Formats: sequence, structure tokens, C-alpha cells
Amino acid sequence: MYTIAIANHKGGVGKTATTHVLGTVLAATTGRRVLLVDMDPQSSLTGACGVTDAAGASMTEVLGGALAGTLPLRRAIRHLDEGLALAPADLSLSGAELGLVSRMGRENVLRRALADLDGAYDLALIDCPPSLGLLTINALSAAQAVLIPTQAQIVDLRGLRLFLDTLEQVRQEINPTLETLGILLTFFDRRLTHHRDAMDTLLRTGQPVLEVQIGRSVKVAEAATIGETVVTYDPENPQTQAYQELAKVVDGWLRERHA
Ligand SMILES: Nc1ncnc2c1ncn2[C@@H]1O[C@H](COP(=O)(O)OP(=O)(O)O)[C@@H](O)[C@H]1O
Ligand SMILES: [Mg+2]
Repeated sequence: MYTIAIANHKGGVGKTATTHVLGTVLAATTGRRVLLVDMDPQSSLTGACGVTDAAGASMTEVLGGALAGTLPLRRAIRHLDEGLALAPADLSLSGAELGLVSRMGRENVLRRALADLDGAYDLALIDCPPSLGLLTINALSAAQAVLIPTQAQIVDLRGLRLFLDTLEQVRQEINPTLETLGILLTFFDRRLTHHRDAMDTLLRTGQPVLEVQIGRSVKVAEAATIGETVVTYDPENPQTQAYQELAKVVDGWLRERHA
């Protein structure tokens, strides 16, 4: 199983939407068996997948806190669609994160839980919380690659610098082979000078910005409120096309790695 973390400690940059839509498109178009993993206590991914009753069988019970988890990951997983499943979260995950602080091997708890799945999935996409705490570190430790959504504004780029430094530390201390799949510009509008400037700045400083960007459409947010993605909710929407392009880029990345 190949594992991609979708991460950025900034909130509202499209991590959850990217995880949900990308995972759904990859499952539908590439035949891969995709597992979405919700590592955010705010559990927006779980909500967007239409799951409302995760309490008691969620990532909290899988990861545990100060003590080891009590539920094998496979028993927390919900089937969503052909080739698509979800490991849900709920608010209690924030308590689990606090407990993890005192746990031996605390950075590797998710990696060990995923290893238990034993060939049932081809791809795991991990939706990270908007922080640099142990839940995000666990995701970066478990992943082979990280996809970094960011808005194209100067304040976001400053935050991005901090995130990229953290990635470097994770590589040095925990996961030396972690690759950067790319930086994904979200809420991107090519007509806005400051968006183009931010993109140019990233490219000029040699950052791995993906050639595809996601623009803003209210249909992306609307779809999530009814457990759908923009791809089925509004097939003709330009953002449907953008997410399909993103899925092609990620599919290419995976093929190059025989995943
Ligand atoms: N391309 C988009 N166009 C419009 N709204 C979006 C888009 N992507 C995400 N949203 C909405 O913006 C908000 C933040 O996105 P979200 O994916 O939850 O970000 P994060 O997970 O980084 O906090 C959510 O309400 C979401 O539905
Ligand atoms: Mg989110």
C-alpha cells in the first residue's frame, strides 16, 4: 500500500477537499482500492463522506493515547463505494493526541496501524489536521509522499516555509525517504496578480509546484455538505476538471513508483 499525507499546518487551504475528491476520483478511474484516513479531530473528511456515527469506532480507538489502541484499524473502516473506504475520526481524537505525548514510539503509531491492513488497499490518503502536532507527525511518518495544498498568497507562503522546515526535520529524525509529491495551489485565480506573483515566487525558489491548480467554486463546498464530491455533483464544473487533472498527475506519480 502506498501512503500519501495531505498536509499543511494552515487551516482552510483545501486539505480535506483535496483528500476527498482526489481519493474518490482515483478509486473511480484507476481501479485502485483507496482508503481515506481522517486524522483531524474536527473530522470534516468524515462528515464530507456522509459518516455521522463514528464515535466508539474511529481513529481514536485505533491509535489510543497514553495507552495502546483497542481497535484494529480494519474494524474502524467504513465501506463508502466501489474501491473506496474511510477510517473515520471524531472530536475525541484531540484527547488521543494529548495522550500520545507520553507514549513510547508515539510518532509511529499510525504507521504500525496501517501496516496491519496487509494488502487490503492499494493507496491510503491521510487528511491531516491544521497543526504541526503529533497527529500530523504520525501522518508524515506513515507516508511515502506528502501533498501540500496552499493558497497562493504571501501570508500563506510564509506559513509554507515553516511547514517545509518541519518536513525537513521529519526526514532527518523519523522518515528519511519521505518524498514531496508537490505543492498544490488551491483557491487559485490566474486573473489575480497576487496569485500569479505567489506562484512565480514559489517557482523561482525552486519549489515543486504542481502544474495543475484548483480554483474556487461554491459547488465544491456544497457537494461536501451532502456527502458528495463536485465530480458527481457538478460534472461540468471547471473544478471537476481540475481535480480530474490532479488525479492524472497523482496516478502518473504512483505509476513511476510502481504503486
Ligand atoms: N475549490 C474550492 N472552492 C470553494 N470552496 C472550497 C474549495 N475547496 C474547499 N472549499 C471549502 O473551503 C473550506 C476549507 O476547505 P477544507 O478542504 O476544509 O480546508 P482544510 O482541510 O485545509 O482546512 C471548506 O468549507 C471547503 O468546503
Ligand atoms: Mg481539513
